[in-house]
Formats: sequence, C-alpha cells, structure tokens
Amino acid sequence: MSSENRYLITAALPYANGSNHIGQIAGAYLPADIYVRYLRLKKTDVLFICGADEHGVPITISADKEGVTPQAIADKYHALMKSNFEGLGISFDTFSRTSSEKHKQVAQDFFSTLYNKGIFEEKETEQYFDTEKKQFLADRYIIGTCPNCANERAYGDQCEKCGTTLSPEELINPRSGLSDSTPIKKKTTNWYLPLDKYQDALEKYIDSHPEWKINILGQCKSWLKQGLHPRAMTRDMKWGVPVPLEQAKEKVLYVWFDAPIGYITATQEITPEWEKYWKDKNSRLIHFLGKDNIVFHCIIFPAMLMAHGDYILPYNVPGNEFLNIESEKISTSRNWAVWVDEYLIDFPNQQDVLRYTLCSIMPETKDNNFTWNDFQLKNNSELVGILGNLMNRVVVLIHKYYSGVVPQTSGCDDLKQVCLDVKNKVATSLDNFRFREAQAEMMNLSRHGNKLLTDKEPWKTFATDPEATGVVLYDCLQILANIAILCEPFLPFTSIKIRETLGMSKEKIFWEHIGKQDMVASGSIIQKGALLFSKIEDDVINYQIERLEKIKVKMNLNQNLPKENIEKAIVSKGKKLISYDEFSKMDIQIGTILEASKVEKADKLLKLIIDLGYEKRTVISGIALYYSPEEIIGKQVSILVNLAPRKIRGEESKGMILMAEDKAGKLHFVSPPNIIDNGSEVK
Ligand code: 2FM
Ligand code: ZN
Repeated sequence: MSSENRYLITAALPYANGSNHIGQIAGAYLPADIYVRYLRLKKTDVLFICGADEHGVPITISADKEGVTPQAIADKYHALMKSNFEGLGISFDTFSRTSSEKHKQVAQDFFSTLYNKGIFEEKETEQYFDTEKKQFLADRYIIGTCPNCANERAYGDQCEKCGTTLSPEELINPRSGLSDSTPIKKKTTNWYLPLDKYQDALEKYIDSHPEWKINILGQCKSWLKQGLHPRAMTRDMKWGVPVPLEQAKEKVLYVWFDAPIGYITATQEITPEWEKYWKDKNSRLIHFLGKDNIVFHCIIFPAMLMAHGDYILPYNVPGNEFLNIESEKISTSRNWAVWVDEYLIDFPNQQDVLRYTLCSIMPETKDNNFTWNDFQLKNNSELVGILGNLMNRVVVLIHKYYSGVVPQTSGCDDLKQVCLDVKNKVATSLDNFRFREAQAEMMNLSRHGNKLLTDKEPWKTFATDPEATGVVLYDCLQILANIAILCEPFLPFTSIKIRETLGMSKEKIFWEHIGKQDMVASGSIIQKGALLFSKIEDDVINYQIERLEKIKVKMNLNQNLPKENIEKAIVSKGKKLISYDEFSKMDIQIGTILEASKVEKADKLLKLIIDLGYEKRTVISGIALYYSPEEIIGKQVSILVNLAPRKIRGEESKGMILMAEDKAGKLHFVSPPNIIDNGSEVK
C-alpha cells in the first residue's frame, strides 16, 4: 500500500424499492467507482462502501402497493440492485443492507450514545394522523400541494417536481397517501437532534472546505443561511430500527438517521480494522451522491457525527446534479427512466458503452441530458471509431507484418512524455472530481495513436523501411498498453480486453507503470483479439426510443386528467378518436405460428414464421420474456399484415403480432376461440 492517505469512499445507499436507473448511476455510483478504481491503481488504501437503504416510507409504500411485507420488498430489490451494480462493474467492496441485525445494533448504539449524552430534545408535537388506517403519516405518507410550485402531489418531505425540501406542515390541502382521507392532528412524542445548536460548528466546518464543489457549497450555505432547526430523529412507524428506549416502543429511528450509519455498519462488516477508516484523522471520508442527498450528508450526518464525538467528518462530498432523459426529468413512478437491469439485457457485454456515455455527460455542475441518439453516436464515433479502431488497426498490422510477434525495437523517445502528460492531466482532473474531463483526456491518447498511424503510414513503409514500420507499431502497442491502465477506471471491461490481447500481466496495471515504454516487450505475442466495441445499428436505438415514446403518451395524458380518470386513460392509452376509414386501413388477419426461435443477443425477441394460408411471413416479436419458442408453436394469433416492414436486429420483420397487455404487464395473444382458416380477416 502507498503511504498516502487512507480513503473510505461511500456511494449513497439507494432505497431498496426498485431497480436502479441511469440517473443514479451517473450521479453517484459511476463517479464513485471511477474514483475508487483510480485510487486502487495508485495502490492507495481504500474501501468502497455501499448497500441498500431498506427502511423508510419508500419501502413501506412499495410493500403496500405490491401487497407484501417490507422485508420481502427489501430482499427482492437488494438482490436486484446488487446484480445491477455488479453487471455494470461498480466495484463495491461490499453492498450491505440496513435491515440486518448488525445494522440494528450499530444504529441503536449510535442513538443510545447521543441519548446518554443528553443530546436529543424530547418534544411532544401534533403530527398528521390517518384515522381510517390508524397510523401517523410521516414523510412520504402525507401528500399535498407544494407551496413552491403548486404540484398537487408533493410529499411531506419533498416536492419531486421542483425539488424543494418540505415538512408536512408546509403542504397545502394535506391528505393521507394511504387512504386519500384528510388527516387529523394528533399528539405524539419524538426525539429531536437540535441542529440549531450545531449551526456555528457546521458553519465553521463548511467554511473550512472552500475546495468543495460549488453546487455543494451553494446548497449548504443556503441551508445554513435559513437557520437550522431541531429535526426529529424518530418516527411513529413500525418498519425501521426500533428506538432503543423503553418509552418509545412503537417508534423507529428516522430513516435519515439510520441510513448514513449504514456506512459505519458496512465497514464494520468487512474489516475488523474499521475504526482506522472512521476515527483516524489521516483517513478521508468521501461521500458520492446526487443533489437530493446533499443536506443529509453535509449538514445532518456531520451534526450526528459531531454529537457522537468519536468519528471523523466527511472530507469531501462530490455530489452531482440530475440527469434527464430525452429532455424530461427522470420519474421512477411514471417509468420515465432507463433501467440498469433492462440495459444489461438489451445490451449484453456493452457495459462500458453505458459507462462511457454516462461519464461523458455526467451532471457535474448542472443538470444534463441523456439521449439514445447521443449514446449511439458516442459508441459509433468515439468508442468504435477512435479507441476500437486504433486497437483493431494495430493488432491487424502486427499480425500481417510480424505474425503477431512484437518487433525488435525500442520505439521512439517522444512517446514517454506524451503518455506522462496524459497521465498528469487525467490525475489532476480525477483529483478534482472532473470525471468528464478525465475521460476525454484518456481518449486523447487513442487519438494520438491513430494520428501516429495516419502520419507514418507503416503499411507503406514496410516495403522500403521495415524498421520504421516496426517503430510505429511498437509505439502504438505501448500507447495501447498505457490506455489499458488509463482507461481502467472508466472502461474496466475494455481494459481487461486490451490487457489480455497484449499479453500484459495484471501486475503491470498500476498507475506507476503509465509512461513506461516497455510494457509490451519485443518478442512477446499479441493475440488476435476480438473487437473492443461494435457498431450499434439504428433499429436497436429506435426500439429504445419507441419504448420511451409509448411511456410519454401515458405521461402526458396523466398530467392533463383529474386523478379519478387516470386509470381509465391508461386503459385507453390516450389514443385519439379515428374514423372508420382510418381503422379500415389496417389489415389484421389470423395466422398460425409455424416456427419460433430466439433472436441472438436480444433476450426480448423471438423470430416467428407465421402461416397465413397464402404465404409464410417472418415476424420479429418482443415476447421472449413471456413465452418460450416451444410453447407457442401451433398457436393461432392475430397479425397486422400491412405494417411497413422493419429491420429489427438485422432481421426483416413483416407485420406485427397483436398482444393484449394485462395489468401486471404480461402479454397475451389475441387468438380466435376455435381454430379457423389462416388468413381470416379480423374486422
Ligand atoms: O435518496 C436515497 O435513495 C437515500 N436512500 C440515500 C441514503 S444515503 C445514506 F445516507 F445512506
Ligand atoms: Zn414543488
């Protein structure tokens, strides 16, 4: 390990009530992973901590909706999120969870320490109470109109439309999120952390970090300027860490009290030496997160840590702004998102393409926008066109002229400096949490390699000056070896591919090796190697865009309708009235599925051969998640036969199978009750 500082890096614990979307990845998990991988390359002592936030109202609301226990929700989504992160190469040292026994003990101990030190203020206040459900309405259980933007569905802790942090009392026309009834006020006792008493200490703490990102300092200062108030650290709820007090039996810890303590629990779970990361002044605690979490990590958690007294305070909180998708704010409840689990199915082995795109548009200083067209462009013109192209050209030429053996030469002296310059630029950018800039610098080294090939034309010199050819190709191999290290934080899957193709040992993949010019030695063997990246075709992108367009229809419709009509509107999908003439343009017929097979690299698609009586049609249908090929052969189905042919994953699809989608999202064939002639018209 290096003698530099020790680091504890955390990424915000996501609520275990759904999958992860790309906004969360770009905001917290990808920058954290890039930073940690960079520190590991420098042989720094670093731990990377994350886990699922399994308490709080978001979990109980999902449980109510799905009709299962909160624990079942937490189990389901903890597993899903863990596999999402692993799939994308987010290299946590642990992905823990806050519903564990261990966490209960750690969080209760923390609370008891503060309680025994007399930190908390015990207060009886009036809180909203649902008389039908006989339950206090904390945080997201209370809904009302936002005083800031008039959104009628703002929550008791936050308005998702304008981002304002709220308290239940601020909502206009409050109503219960459980029963929609108007709540009453009922007295209850809770324990408050007197943030006002920490105002001065927090101001000094924030002022001692002028190097923090401007967006973070801005939010902190605005909170401090408004003046801090005591904040309840307990809740009248059943799901959560029980408050360890005799007189508070039916209460649990506030989720924002227990969740950040989850970082401590997770560290304890993975090392008996956890204290050196949390208590030693030479350790640097860095929290990666999205902007909605800033106040909790820069004000409330530091106040908790100050009150406790044994712990170091966050050294930096490099939070990011939000990512929009196709210019719309991400909305998980409306499904306006690109989900990681779906991405990993739709784009197998293309994790680095998403990492690269998200890093290049990371919302570091302001909200930014993801579009599928940009994703395609970044892949086709940058990853394929620059890095992939360099690798491919060099490997092909080495095999063509040297049968895959690295030529005998020591290369050109200038190259070392070029690599060292890039190394310094990438390091400076990463040290300052400028991930977009760092990745762009890394790519510049590939550009340099391509330029070298174009300028020196080794394919021309081979006949007249073979030594010159050898020097250029040797240099390009060293460039690729340097890229294998430099790209590892950003493109870890690609780094492995380059390393394996060049036959580099793992021991050479450290920061200190960048700039060394003998990483791929003369005489060593270069593998033929597969392509690093492949072109993404229009039909693949159009499929994703169409998916979002369908969601938009529902979203726009819902916005304009009173709540009671929303259900109906979803059923009708918001389509406009059409004339009989328009309907009669559609030629729908009955056909029998003769053959069905999976489409390669497309988990959702089946290729079907349909017998229409008068001809056999190929149709590509997105039903593979619901039906296996074997179970549908022989089935009669309805098919729109005059839909313009489309290419889907390289196959021409002539027509569309009609499917009925049930409330759970499962697709069913629209079939005649008895066998009828193929080619029968549906009118
Ligand atoms: O916003 C969220 O998803 C929270 N669950 C983040 C918690 S971060 C930490 F404090 F645990
Ligand atoms: Zn609002």
